[in-house]
Order: sequence, then structure tokens, then C-alpha cells
Amino acid sequence: MRGLRFVSIARYVPEKVVTNDDLSRIVDTNDEWIRTRTGIGERHFSEGETAVDLCVGAARLALERAGIAPEELAGCIVATCTPDHASPSNACLVQAALGLPENIPCYDISAGCTGFLYGLETVRGMLALEEKKKYALLIGCDQLSRVIDMTDRSTCVLFGDGAGAAVLTLEDRLWHADLGSRGNAEVLWLNGPGPETTYIHMDGPGVYRFAVDALPSCARTLLDKSGLTLDDIDWIVPHQANRRIIETAAKRLHAPLEKFYQNMERYGNTSAASVPIALDEMVEQGLLKRGQKVLAVAFGAGLTWGGALFEW
Ligand code: ACO
Repeated sequence: MRGLRFVSIARYVPEKVVTNDDLSRIVDTNDEWIRTRTGIGERHFSEGETAVDLCVGAARLALERAGIAPEELAGCIVATCTPDHASPSNACLVQAALGLPENIPCYDISAGCTGFLYGLETVRGMLALEEKKKYALLIGCDQLSRVIDMTDRSTCVLFGDGAGAAVLTLEDRLWHADLGSRGNAEVLWLNGPGPETTYIHMDGPGVYRFAVDALPSCARTLLDKSGLTLDDIDWIVPHQANRRIIETAAKRLHAPLEKFYQNMERYGNTSAASVPIALDEMVEQGLLKRGQKVLAVAFGAGLTWGGALFEW
């Protein structure tokens, strides 16, 4: 099987931290409600930085850590539902900011919180078609503070800003993927980007029902495809929307909760950035080591889901 190897991983979050107590001074909410319903304690909100700035912060570090020259890149993809503009894409603006070569494709993909997982499969296809260049840059980034209604307590407490970036290469190695979509604009949607951008609309219980179904069934599909069992998997890295979703999904999958990495306590839901941010933290903390088996799985607007089973 031709699978991706993460040559490097990196994250960038804006400096400003907004705690649950900070939010309770803006809307009628409290730390206890937010923590028990979501597992979220604080999140980062941009101040004066654009979504492209977040992408560039993570991508610069990922390229440094990979130790490759920009000329070795076959392409740059940004997964986002909050690009700075409808056009040009964030990826083209990252290309300009980092001086990436001119003869490579740069584009954004939109799959909500599943974007990074969709991006991995897109990169796998890109590198399979490429003859000369060995690497691709994939960024998951969302700046949700820009599109949340700070008077709506049922959504404004959930989200944060951030970016995660990876330099990837294609090798003969373990790789299984599962992507899908249920074509639905009622449960979760966002207009824009541009001047017509409005706020995120969400049917919270609808998202919850979708997620606790999609997450375990995608994980099960990946295990079936690979012939592996849960015991063979070192880490499940889920999209960090909500602790209760992860707890219910773990029960449905009959998987121990300790296998699920969770960091929504410190970031909130960063949408397309949540999986790469989690991977970077896990490496930094020495939790994720080369050779370990990872099952990454996400769900989001679309309604989309996506998973990948691979060796770190
Ligand atoms: N603080 C205090 N009270 C609140 C808050 C808040 N921030 N938000 C809602 N409430 C109130 C409601 O007004 C309601 O009050 P009422 O009973 O007097 O009407 C009460 O709390 C219960 O509201 P529910 O919406 O029923 O709360 P629920 O237990 O369903 O939890 C939640 C809401 C956390 C949004 C839940 O539905 C959920 O986890 N949904 C998944 C949503 C999600 O994770 N979205 C992520 C974005 S999408 C993605 O990543 C794919």
C-alpha cells in the first residue's frame, strides 16, 4: 500500500487565551456548564492576525522541522472553512508569504472540521501523480472567532482559532482511509467568505447525533479494511469538538477512553486544525512515537466524515 509518512508536524495558535470565565462576562454562561457539556476550558482567539497568518505560522515551523527546501514541494493545500477570501485561496497566499516555488499547485479544500483528513487523501493522490517532487505541504486552519455570534451562548463557547501543518511524503507503508459525506446543509452551515459572511449556524443535538454515529462507524471501517483490531492501535486521534461526543463514541466502539487523545480543554474546537494540532502536541509530549499505529478520525459540516489509519 502507498501511504503517507508525516515528515514533520507543527502547530500555531494565536497568543490570546479566552477562558470560560472570560466568556461568562460576555454571555449568560459559566465555566461549570461549558466544562461538563463540552470538556472545553479555554480557547485561543486571534487579535490582528488573519487566517493566512495562522497558516504561515504553522507551515513555516513544519518546513523547518522537515528540513526540506521549498523546491522539493509538489504542492500546498489548505483545509479550511474560514479562508481570508473566496479567492485567492489561503494556500496561494501561504505560497506568497513563504516564497514557495511558482510551478506547483496551491489550493484550498472545504470539508469543515473533516478538512485535514480530506486533505491527506488529496495529498496522497497528488504525490502518486507526481514524478519528480517527493513532498507536499498540508495545512488545516480555521479562524472561527471571526464567524461566531458572541451573543449566542450555544455556539460561541465551543470554538477556537488555530492551525496545524504537516510535510508529507508517499512511501510503501500502512495506510487506510475512509471518507464520506451525507449532503446536509441544515445541521451546520456558514455563509461567506467575504462581506456576506454571517455566523455559524448549528443544530447542536443534530451534530451530536451525527458525530456519535459517524466517528465509531468510520473507525470500524478502517479497522475492517486494515484487518487490525483496536488492540493493535496505539492512539485514536479524534476531531476535538466535544468530550461527550468522544466518550459516547468510545463506548459505541468498545474502545478504552485512554486510547483517545483529547486536548479540547485548552483549544476548544479548532475545526480543520484540531487533528494536526493534537498530533503535534502528542509528539511534543513524547506520547506519539515513530512506529506507533494511529487512527485519526474527524466529522464536520457537509456533513462529512473522514479517517486515516497509519503508522507514525
Ligand atoms: N451556557 C449555559 N447554558 C447554555 C449554554 C451555555 N453556553 N448553551 C446552551 N445553554 C442552555 C440552553 O439554552 C438550554 O437551556 P433551556 O433548557 O433552558 O432551554 C440548556 O442549556 C440545554 O441546552 P441544549 O442545547 O439541550 O444542551 P445540550 O446538552 O444539547 O448541549 C451542546 C449543547 C454542547 C452544543 C450539545 O448539543 C453538543 O455537544 N452538540 C454537538 C455540537 C458540537 O460539538 N459542535 C461542534 C461544531 S461542529 C463540528 O465540530 C463538527
